[in-house]
Amino acid sequence: MKQYLSVVVKPTLFCGTDCKHCYHTPDERVPGEISMQTLEKLIRMVSEEYEAAWFIWHGGEPLTLPLSFYKKALELEEKHFGKGSFRYGNTIQTNGLGLNRRLMAYCRQKQINVGVSYEGPFNGVLREGDASKAISSLSDKDNKYSVSATICAETALRQREIYRYFRDRRTDVSLSPVIPAGCARCGGLVPDPDEYVRGSLEAFDDWLHDSEAEIPLIPHYLYMLNYLGDPVPSDCAHTSCLTKWICVNPDGSVYPCAKACPKEFLMGNVNDVGSISELFRSEGFARILEGSVKRREKCSSCAIYDYCGGGCSMDFYHECGLEDNSGDSCRIYKGIFSHVVEETQRILDEKPDMSGYNRFVRDAVVGKLVNPKTVIQ
Ligand SMILES: C[S@@+](CC[C@H](N)C(=O)[O-])C[C@H]1O[C@@H](n2cnc3c(N)ncnc32)[C@H](O)[C@@H]1O
Ligand code: SF4
Ligand code: SF4
Repeated sequence: MKQYLSVVVKPTLFCGTDCKHCYHTPDERVPGEISMQTLEKLIRMVSEEYEAAWFIWHGGEPLTLPLSFYKKALELEEKHFGKGSFRYGNTIQTNGLGLNRRLMAYCRQKQINVGVSYEGPFNGVLREGDASKAISSLSDKDNKYSVSATICAETALRQREIYRYFRDRRTDVSLSPVIPAGCARCGGLVPDPDEYVRGSLEAFDDWLHDSEAEIPLIPHYLYMLNYLGDPVPSDCAHTSCLTKWICVNPDGSVYPCAKACPKEFLMGNVNDVGSISELFRSEGFARILEGSVKRREKCSSCAIYDYCGGGCSMDFYHECGLEDNSGDSCRIYKGIFSHVVEETQRILDEKPDMSGYNRFVRDAVVGKLVNPKTVIQ
């Protein structure tokens, strides 16, 4: 059996809102949901071939489907993976508009992670609805979620404010830039890479020296752990994700990535194959793999290749072409990673009074100094 697969399921592409930057264009965000038959076949095939899997419910907007849909989906997971077997886990990635106490209580009971796409005080820059109303209706007990903030041209230099907003609410936050896909192809939404790096580092420096911070800042903290340990994959964009992820659309079609993935990378359809490995033997998968290998060859002389892994294939596909590594995402990674490394190395060399740093950095660096082989993850 293979070890582990991340399975993004888009149970519907429908979404009741219309974000300016969405990589799914309005003509893709149409009503319709995955059938229970397709879903059961998917879950069964994954359970037969993989020891464990993580299901990420995505879309479109997954919470336009009722809670009863997720109850049935979890019953299928229990049936095929074994109830309480620790062979499967779930995350719901939502725009937050459909959050309510009943759903959150269910997620808590079933240990489903909830990720909310939300930019706090700048939410209205990209998004139509106001998730803060739904969020503020949650009880303290059910108010457990992490936030993905998508940063555009207008908010590139407001990342410190976004970090502070979530720090004050003790909500984990990750920051990532708009990529030029779907609706974001036009309209000046993609941030200038230098401004993005500047804004990102302002947030990082603030977090680094914030002794009161009770949240990790992502991806910066992951980059730091990566530098302190052996180079291991950090966030999704810097993981060798090909062969470790699939994304399933409502009609059962399968792609290698959840971001806007063109037909040329179609791996097949759950309803037409007998196993997950068959999907990885498709022409569509070979095409993205070959293109990614060609791009990574161009990265071979890069000093930080072991950390970056050649970046995200879909980001490059939309920025400059799959085989090319000259896109903004390379420049952004280099800018942020090198600053995080400089600061981390400075702390290791100078061994300053650590009381002025946040506890995540304190634990990671002190752990490394006490025992260089140990890194707190
Ligand atoms: C496509 S949505 C689907 C799930 C759900 N509707 C939501 O908004 O979280 C998933 C994530 O993709 C991000 N996203 C959409 N278009 C993007 C783009 N062009 N560049 C970067 N991120 C994008 C959204 O901000 C959101 O965080
Ligand atoms: S980003 Fe999510 S909430 Fe916004 S339009 Fe796209 S699918 Fe809908
Ligand atoms: S930083 Fe750029 S050049 Fe270096 S490995 Fe990453 S994508 Fe390639």
